Amino acid sequence: MSDKIKFSIDDVEIEGEVGQTIMEAADAAGVYIPRLCASKNLTPHGSCRVCTVKVNGRSQAACTQPIAPGIIVENDTDELKGHRRSIVEMLFVEGNHYCMFCEKSGNCELQAVAYRLGIAAPAHEYLFPNRDVDATHPEIFIDRNRCILCGRCVRASKELDNKNVFQFVGRGIEKKVAVNADANLSDTDMAGVDMAASSCPVGAILRKRVGFAIPVGERLYDAKPIGSEIESNRAENK
Ligand code: FES
Repeated sequence: MSDKIKFSIDDVEIEGEVGQTIMEAADAAGVYIPRLCASKNLTPHGSCRVCTVKVNGRSQAACTQPIAPGIIVENDTDELKGHRRSIVEMLFVEGNHYCMFCEKSGNCELQAVAYRLGIAAPAHEYLFPNRDVDATHPEIFIDRNRCILCGRCVRASKELDNKNVFQFVGRGIEKKVAVNADANLSDTDMAGVDMAASSCPVGAILRKRVGFAIPVGERLYDAKPIGSEIESNRAENK
């Protein structure tokens, strides 16, 4: 029996492997599905919903939904792009994101996804929440103003570093990333080389003394939009 599963995304026939999610099969085929909480090598969490696609007409998270023979997936439609724009716009106004002053600018996935979706200015009022910065660790700092609660640091610490440095506490608008110590990051077993430190898609967890090492204009998403690294697979596959 063949291990291949055939299905379609936006009328393009895709051949995936048994056990793949829609996002994994799309990535391999060179089809970009926007995402924020999903990251290679981490268990998908399905929380940000930016990757929402329609599967046989029903909304599903592409990062968690397994492929199945003959499913019809819609991805790059005006309706779905509109939903994604709304989610990203809300993320911007829920936190304090000042891209022009942020050292992650140009390498930031939130910013890059916003550009890719054509967001020029948020459509909602800013909430200007009062969030804190933890700069107690000698090598890493957390700026919660920029946190989008994707949970990548929580999963990276647990799954890749075999630690449990981060966790969520609180609910709703009070929800935040906390550390497994009474108060500060410096009280944890976090190390500067930990994968959790590089897992953050925004500028919420950053290494100290390396900011602006790559000049603005030469950063990852300055030249090419996010997702083009995936789409280039498709061009090569043809
Ligand atoms: S990337 Fe799938 S829910 Fe966040």
